[in-house]
Formats: sequence, structure tokens, C-alpha cells
Amino acid sequence: MSNLSQPDRILIFDTTLRDGEQSPGATLNVDEKLTIARQLARLGVDIIEAGFPFASPGDFEAVQKIADQVGTEDGPVICGLARATKQDIEAAGNAIAPAAKGRIHTFIATSDIHMQYKLRKNREEVLAITKEMVAYAKTFTDDVEFSPEDAGRSDPAFMHQVLEAAIAAGATTVNIPDTVGYLTPSEFGTMIRGIRDNVPNIDQAIISVHGHNDLGLAVANFLEAVKNGARQLECTINGIGERAGNAALEELVMAMHVRRSYYNPFLGRPVESDAPLTHINTQEIYQTSRLVSNLTGMFVQPNKAIVGANAFAHESGIHQDGVLKNKLTYEIMDAESIGLNKNQIVLGKHSGRNAFRSRLKELGHDLGDQDLNRAFVRFKDLADKKKTVTDWDILALVNDETQQAPEHFHLELVQVSCGDHSCPTATVTLRTPEGQELTDAATGTGPVDAVYKAVNRVVNIPNELIEFSVQSVTAGIDAMGEVTIRVRHENQVFSGHAANTDIVVASTQAYLNALNRLYTTLQSGQALHPQRDELATATL
Ligand code: KIV
Ligand code: ZN
Repeated sequence: MSNLSQPDRILIFDTTLRDGEQSPGATLNVDEKLTIARQLARLGVDIIEAGFPFASPGDFEAVQKIADQVGTEDGPVICGLARATKQDIEAAGNAIAPAAKGRIHTFIATSDIHMQYKLRKNREEVLAITKEMVAYAKTFTDDVEFSPEDAGRSDPAFMHQVLEAAIAAGATTVNIPDTVGYLTPSEFGTMIRGIRDNVPNIDQAIISVHGHNDLGLAVANFLEAVKNGARQLECTINGIGERAGNAALEELVMAMHVRRSYYNPFLGRPVESDAPLTHINTQEIYQTSRLVSNLTGMFVQPNKAIVGANAFAHESGIHQDGVLKNKLTYEIMDAESIGLNKNQIVLGKHSGRNAFRSRLKELGHDLGDQDLNRAFVRFKDLADKKKTVTDWDILALVNDETQQAPEHFHLELVQVSCGDHSCPTATVTLRTPEGQELTDAATGTGPVDAVYKAVNRVVNIPNELIEFSVQSVTAGIDAMGEVTIRVRHENQVFSGHAANTDIVVASTQAYLNALNRLYTTLQSGQALHPQRDELATATL
């Protein structure tokens, strides 16, 4: 049994950096992954699945750096994903080695449809691979997690046999994935109960759950699993992930926080117990959500539970009146409980570099001198334009800076002329790493269209703009605009994000950001996908 085990606590296993990053266009670079991992540690997750190290040298480096810098003695467990192959397990084992607490998560499919068409293996072969590969993972770390992929559509009797073999070979956590998001809550609960009742050595492992949101049931399924004995939940910030995404961390945590007295008895506690059900510091939820949304380019819908822009906005007159008289009339939780109103005005235009640096540190960003200088220049510039600079503004600037690397095309200049009696026209100048300055101009249906056409004339990489959104960072006419965009190039999606008080500048920077990611991928090649890639079958 894992040494994290506490029967009356739910462990939170965050897979934003692995399954979340598998969302089209959500690809993150090493620095961005490190920034998110640090914030996940502040949030208090128990385990960070930091990536799939065998996927590419970049993925390996990211997991290794997170293991080294975030996987401290009192920090979270750092986990690397591995298919049930020696080469994957070896890569994961080496990548997590610097962590004080490292885990290997290995998996193989157990549903007939996956075994027949994806793996081309029969049941005996899958059972044998499970035993051999869990035992092999054990040679790298004591903390091994095993998943029977597509458990939701697997024959329960066979899945139980595979789980028993995995635990006998040393798995300390068995994770039960509803890979295609097919099950309903009562079916999911029954599956977990069946595992508890039928796997003879199940008391030697923690039961974990993993599920996708194809039918919008992932969170409900997990909560039912908790009632039936699951003690680890695999989830992502904002619910990002493959297809319709994974179960959303913030929804699970807040459901168990707000409805603690309902869940307490299922964990053997008295109904009225006040002890938290997870280790999550809920006040870090909002900031984590913003960070992940900005860096992945995955926009959060306004009506999204817990972290959507409207989740705490009481717009209708009747509601406002009720809320003013007694908050509980229309609110089941406080905005403060997720840290929404925590970050208020802190710095002004007279604040110095040291004050800026220490505020950033408190917000979880420990920047090196160069990054700090760049961010400070932008802060001063913003403080000149904007009456009050809040923490949200500062975070938007820093997220922007963190996201800059690797930058092939650097924006030197953007100028537009537009208005109701003119043809929108843009001029842009971009600089390459060789110092070459490239200028072009174009007209368009609006200023942003004109800018994008001018940029395309310079960059010359075919792409299609598939999403464009602008959101203001704070309220007020002088607020910064955050632009998030997604572009497609030959079936691959790339995102870009930028913030500026001038939304044309933010739009240009966001577009360049996406094009720089596209350019880098064209140079370095795509990383392997752990579940779909041809190698998933070829190297077993
Ligand atoms: O959805 C899934 O089955 C997975 C496994 C790798 C656990 O992500
Ligand atoms: Zn998954």
C-alpha cells in the first residue's frame, strides 16, 4: 500500500500536465510545465503526473526538471506515465529519479476491443505483460501505479484477474480508467464496488479512478466511486484533457468541500466532521485555473462550474437583492473559498523592483534576473497607463513573459489604421534570431484581420485561425485585454495567448505566440501520443 494512504482522505492526482496536455493545441514548453507544476504544489495536490517521458526529449526533460525542482521532501509525488514496455518504464524511471517521492504509472488495455484492434494481444499475453512490467517498474521505485486501460468496457472478471496480478507484482495503486467516458454514475460505482469485493489482495493497494467527460458524467462518476471505495481521483485543472476532457479538479474538490457532511460517512467519519476531505488549499483554485487557461490556450467557458466568469456573478436584480439580504439565498459557497477576491490592488507606479519581486514571489513566481527585468519594465509601463494594478494584472504579465520562449519571430512593431470610413490597414515588423527585420503590410476586414494577414505575409507558414477570444483581466475601461487564439496547421492545433492594454497588440502577440509554437514543432517534430501512437502496439 502506498505510504500516502489515509483511509479517510481522498488523494488528488493531477494529470493536467499529462492527460490535460494531450488536448489538441494545449502543448506546453518545459518552462510553462514547471510554472504549472509549482502552482499545483501550492494548490496542494498529492501527486503530479508530470508527463509521458518516452514521448520526446522535451517531455523527458520536463518531467526530470519537475522531479528535481518541485518533487521536494515535503512536496508532491512526481509521476511519469509509461506504456507497459521496458523502454517507456526505463524513461519514466530515469525522469522521476531526482524526486524525493517518485511514481511510475504504467498501463495496458484490458477491454476486448482494445486488445484485439490496438494491441493485437490475447488475454494471456496481456496478463503476462502486466506481471512482467509492474515488476520491472518496481526496480526503479516502490511507488508503482497500474491502470487497465478502457476498464469501463472491460470484462470485469478478466480485469479483476489483471488487477490481482498487478498488485501481486508490486502495484501500490490500481487506477480504474473509463477511457472513453462511457459509464453512468451507478455503473461506475458498481465497478469500483466489484473490484473491492472480487480482487483478493485489493487491501494492499489504493483504488484510484480516471475518467473522461464524453457524456459530461466524469465528475458525477468519480463522486459515486468515492462512495464505493475509491481513494484517489485523477483529474485536471479546468477539466482539460483528451476529447471532452477529464474530470475537473476544482469541481471534485469543491463538491467534497461544500457537501462534506454528505461524503463524511462514506469515509468512515462522523457526519459533522469538519476535517477537510482532501489536502487541497481551495484558495489557490482560481489562480491555478487562470494560469492553466492562459498557458494552454484552453479558454474557460463563462458558465463553467466553480471557475467560470459567471460562476459567482449575481446579475439578475432578484438574485442581487437576495444575496445582499443573506448570501445563502443564492450562494452555496463563497468566492473567497476559491481565492477569487483574494488578489486585490497591491502595487502602484511608485513601487520599486524589490517590492515587485517579493509580490511575485508571494504569488508563486520566482523569476530569474532577466525575466524579472523584462516583467518589471512591462509592469512600469502598465502602471503608467492603468490607475490601479492588481495581482491579476501582474499575473497576466508574468504568464505572458513565461510563455515567450522559444521565440523565433519577435514582434518589433505593429501599427494599424482603421475607422468607419477607412480600409483597415496594418504594418508589422518581425525580427528573427539572426537579427533580420522583416516588414510587410496588408488590408483586412478589420484591424486584427489586417494584422494577421500582414504577419502571414512575413511568416509564410500556412495556417487557419480556428478560435479567437478577448477577455478583460479586470473590470474598468483601462483594463488589459487577454487574447487567446488557436490556429490549425495540417491537423495539428497550436494556441497562443497574450495580454496588453491595447488589444491589437495583444492579438498580434498572441498570434505570433501560436506561430512560434508551430514553427518550433515543425523544427523538432511531434511528440509520441501514449495511447494512440503506432508504437503503442509495435513495441510491446
Ligand atoms: O484515459 C486513459 O485510459 C488514460 C490512461 C493512460 C490511464 O489516460
Ligand atoms: Zn485519460
